[in-house]
Amino acid sequence: MKSIKGLDLEGRRVLVRVDFNVPLDDQQNITDDTRIREVLQTLKYVLDHRGKLIIMSHMGRPKGKFVEKYSLNPVAKRLGRLLGQEVALAPDCIGPEVETMVSDMKPEDVLLLENLRFHEGEEKNDPAFAAALAALCDVYINDAFAVCHRKHASVCAIAEQKEEKGAGFLLIKEIKYFQDAMENPRRPLVAIVGGAKVSSKFSALENMMSKVNKVIIGGAMANTFLKSMGYSIGKSMVEDDLVAAAGRLRQRALEEGIKFYLPVDAVVAQELDPKAETKIVPFQEIPDDWMALDIGPATSMLFDEALYNAKTIVWNGPMGVFEVDAFSRGTLSMVHSVADSFALSIVGGGDTDVAVHSSGQKERISYISTGGGAFLKLLEGKSLPGVDALGGSELAE
Ligand code: 3PG
Repeated sequence: MKSIKGLDLEGRRVLVRVDFNVPLDDQQNITDDTRIREVLQTLKYVLDHRGKLIIMSHMGRPKGKFVEKYSLNPVAKRLGRLLGQEVALAPDCIGPEVETMVSDMKPEDVLLLENLRFHEGEEKNDPAFAAALAALCDVYINDAFAVCHRKHASVCAIAEQKEEKGAGFLLIKEIKYFQDAMENPRRPLVAIVGGAKVSSKFSALENMMSKVNKVIIGGAMANTFLKSMGYSIGKSMVEDDLVAAAGRLRQRALEEGIKFYLPVDAVVAQELDPKAETKIVPFQEIPDDWMALDIGPATSMLFDEALYNAKTIVWNGPMGVFEVDAFSRGTLSMVHSVADSFALSIVGGGDTDVAVHSSGQKERISYISTGGGAFLKLLEGKSLPGVDALGGSELAE
């Protein structure tokens, strides 16, 4: 794929696909604008080169129709403040009104198109919808790493139709960090994998087996592994259909000399309730009607020690139900262990990302990916359709 730097932007209509799918509270306030800040470099580059900047994004999952709460209106305001200039919001992303707004643009103007997912054609990768978007621009830029795993019209079909296209700085940075960490890492390379379900991470774990030196497992998915080793885990969440496969995966890791770490203790409660009574027990002693909801302090110490000599760390998924204070300590302690390490550390995945941000340690992590699903796809060893549509992850001169 080409970088934005290799494209002629002056005086031209430059359509940039970004991922402004940012979290909002009940009053439509943006609670985390990282995804907006992360693409400013690309947006300012277009403006510095006197392009007419047209921006497009999705927000939420409105399923092909207009839904007020998924309007990009709050994003237009925040972006205007961050860029220090007016950002006009189009009433739609295609159609005659939008075409007029685009033809009235002067170099260095900024126009944000309304949510792409208000049209069914977006998620269907519809060529006609993509053609309507493509007609708005001379140059197409993709800087939306977090949605590159989706075969959607503004990511794939449009790139196939457009001659002049390239990747923005964020997309290039995301791919490069990931490749450096997984393809040619300084070792030991440690993968930390957490989250609720082993089923959603199984392919990633299998793919990583041939690459990493250590694997650390946390979150409810650890229960499935512990059950395969014969532990009785009380009422803890478990995926029974994957117990045998989890056992085989652990066995494979041991045979290949990969150090495989599982929790040794847990914070348990009788129900997932912020007010529930909690206690800390070794994994051998979870009472029948209690459930593990976070890793315990002994596990945090063990994992911290396992990270001591790490040179590269890739982390996806929390260690417990960290959105509930009582079960957040394991994840926060992991954030500190990763931040304190001397390794190149890469963190990806929506929840993990939130944990790092709320811990105040984000400056001490080498790289925090903006992608959840897209990051996981890379961990699975798969290519991203949005990157393929630009010509593949190899950067052209
Ligand atoms: C994300 O938040 O992971 C991206 O914006 C993609 O959103 P989606 O899962 O709704 O496609």
